[in-house]
Amino acid sequence: MFIQILGSAAGGGFPQWNCNCANCHGLRSGTLRATPRTQSSIALSDDGVNWVLCNASPDIRAQLQSFAPLQPGRALRDTGIQAVVLLDSQIDHTTGLLSLREGCPHPVWCTEMVHQDLTSGFPLFNMLEHWNGGLLWNRIELTGHFTVPACPNLRFTPLPLRSAAPPYSPHRFDPHPGDNIGLVVEDLRTGGTLFYAPGLGQVDEALLATMASADCLLVDGTLWSDDEMQRRGVGMRTGREMGHLAQHGPGGMLDVLEGLPTPRKVLIHINNTNPILDEDSPERAELVRRNVEVAFDGMSIEL
Ligand code: MLT
Ligand code: MN
Ligand code: ZN
Repeated sequence: MFIQILGSAAGGGFPQWNCNCANCHGLRSGTLRATPRTQSSIALSDDGVNWVLCNASPDIRAQLQSFAPLQPGRALRDTGIQAVVLLDSQIDHTTGLLSLREGCPHPVWCTEMVHQDLTSGFPLFNMLEHWNGGLLWNRIELTGHFTVPACPNLRFTPLPLRSAAPPYSPHRFDPHPGDNIGLVVEDLRTGGTLFYAPGLGQVDEALLATMASADCLLVDGTLWSDDEMQRRGVGMRTGREMGHLAQHGPGGMLDVLEGLPTPRKVLIHINNTNPILDEDSPERAELVRRNVEVAFDGMSIEL
């Protein structure tokens, strides 16, 4: 399985257009050793030709520009993106679909809950109908597996995760299973297994067992500390409130990862306030000590 990291930042990207936090300012002024990052999205393939886009970020245009296999190569109008899988209905994971309108219809896999959000509070499905049929919905059931015809050797297993529905969701304050999922993706030929969860608020025993059997974890790296937004003076919401498990502290993501035998542990969906973006920070050094990687745009992994 080919895994291409198209974007590795959380909503807003890095630097965020209106942010002057130490990281964003440091990156802009060249005083920080760090790399710009676009908003989180990955592409998966079993043959390197046909790709499944997992989440569609508002930065998709630049992301496609930076990765040749997704560009038109075989016909006058063409793309390597054969299907789209959405893990939630958040802005940073769905608005890229608007930029793909010229290539509609697109087959899109998402849960009932995500489809509800995207046909009500944020009606992307309805809007895009006007472009050659728009988005063709394939329902992700919360149990069992699914496959996507373009990549028949990839088996997707959805895992409902505890997280928050977006502000525009009709069930904003009434969380439902399927608002946010993680994915286990297994290549049936190589046996390589990926666990992908850019939004992960809580890890229970069952999830831990699933994570332990993967070859690569690509998981929520949004915040270093739960109160980071407050510390940086850019917001009041905690990681917990946003459905993101912070890395630092007892029971944090680093503790979770520490006990797992997984060969590759990679953080993705990194918020611009996170000190791990500073390659000279003690927090980044701690990740290196713990064998935890930080995803970057253009990173590729083969399993
Ligand atoms: C989140 O994951 O919480 C989102 O990135 C928030 C957003 O995009 O506004
Ligand atoms: Mn996000
Ligand atoms: Zn910032």
